[in-house]
Amino acid sequence: MQAIRVHEPGGPEVLRYEELPTPTPGPDDVVVRLEACGVNYVDIYQRMGLYKMALPYTPGSEGAGTVADVGAHVRDLRVGDRVAYCGALGSYATHHVVPAARLVALPKSMDSQRAAALMLQGITAHYLCHSTYPLRKGDTTLVHAAAGGVGLLLVQMAKMLGARIIATVSTKEKALLAREAGADEVILYTDQDFEVEVKRLTGGRGVQVVYDSVGKTTFDQSLNCLVPRGYMVLFGQSSGPVPPMDPQLLAAKGSLFLTRPTMGHYIATREELLGRANDLFEWVTSGRLRVRIDRTFPLAQAADAHRALASRATAGKVLLLPG
Ligand SMILES: NC(=O)c1ccc[n+]([C@@H]2O[C@H](COP(=O)([O-])OP(=O)(O)OC[C@H]3O[C@@H](n4cnc5c(N)ncnc54)[C@H](OP(=O)(O)O)[C@@H]3O)[C@@H](O)[C@H]2O)c1
Repeated sequence: MQAIRVHEPGGPEVLRYEELPTPTPGPDDVVVRLEACGVNYVDIYQRMGLYKMALPYTPGSEGAGTVADVGAHVRDLRVGDRVAYCGALGSYATHHVVPAARLVALPKSMDSQRAAALMLQGITAHYLCHSTYPLRKGDTTLVHAAAGGVGLLLVQMAKMLGARIIATVSTKEKALLAREAGADEVILYTDQDFEVEVKRLTGGRGVQVVYDSVGKTTFDQSLNCLVPRGYMVLFGQSSGPVPPMDPQLLAAKGSLFLTRPTMGHYIATREELLGRANDLFEWVTSGRLRVRIDRTFPLAQAADAHRALASRATAGKVLLLPG
């Protein structure tokens, strides 16, 4: 098998394409022959050393393909079944050993590329607006990086839930995509002061919830965009980590709630994983949710995929194809 390996943290150049022995499954595992591997921002934090990893490792935690081998205890999957998963490390590869409990069977209508594009970012968008702060009709929300992988999916789901959406993006092209996804208002936060714009667009009241994955450059001002008792949902740090803060600030700014959620805690049970994945598959199959694949790279060019994502050049999903 072939895989991308990281032997030391660093820039995209540390992603090395290597030959490894083809794995065999443990009793509760399945070997997936990958057809598409998702690239996510977390892969960059791990590669850089912002999130500590045991070395060496194979990056990537999302993929889709066919079952190539099953462990002795696995009952509900067979060789040849089509599956997808997220939250299992090691998907930048042609083959990946994944616990059977993490796999989701794919409906016939769902091709591997769309499935790999949907799992991690789709489940994230799903839990953010259905569980972390469940959006209701009449709520206004601020979604940062709204034309990103998570962003485009989150905007569409927020629309389905009846919220008014104020989106931020860095370019006019991305603004168009955010609007197509359902954003009611779009702010170019690289040109405009988003705090001033949010106040103007809400008649000075603010929004019920901010979904902020940008972090360092947006966090402080995002707190100022909330109504009293509003929810600050910090779920990433694409611009860099947020420095430590005094909790008293939450009182001063209106008894705000602050949460820093991560996907693993929202798909901790098989029921929750299947519930969210099946919603996503149903919405995509029925045409209610669109998945935008921005670009694909051969597996060996994982470094170029990381460069594209980190440079803010992409809008939607980036995939690696082991083909
Ligand atoms: N907590 C969780 O469970 C969870 C799960 C999935 C993802 N995430 C987080 O969600 C965020 C989005 O992930 P994604 O994979 O969908 O990536 P993405 O949103 O497609 O890409 C990141 C986007 O962030 C924006 N950005 C703003 N400042 C930036 C900077 N200085 N450098 C790079 N990008 C910057 C850019 O959009 P503009 O050009 O429009 O500014 C860029 O396109 C990441 O922070 C990720 O870690 C969290």
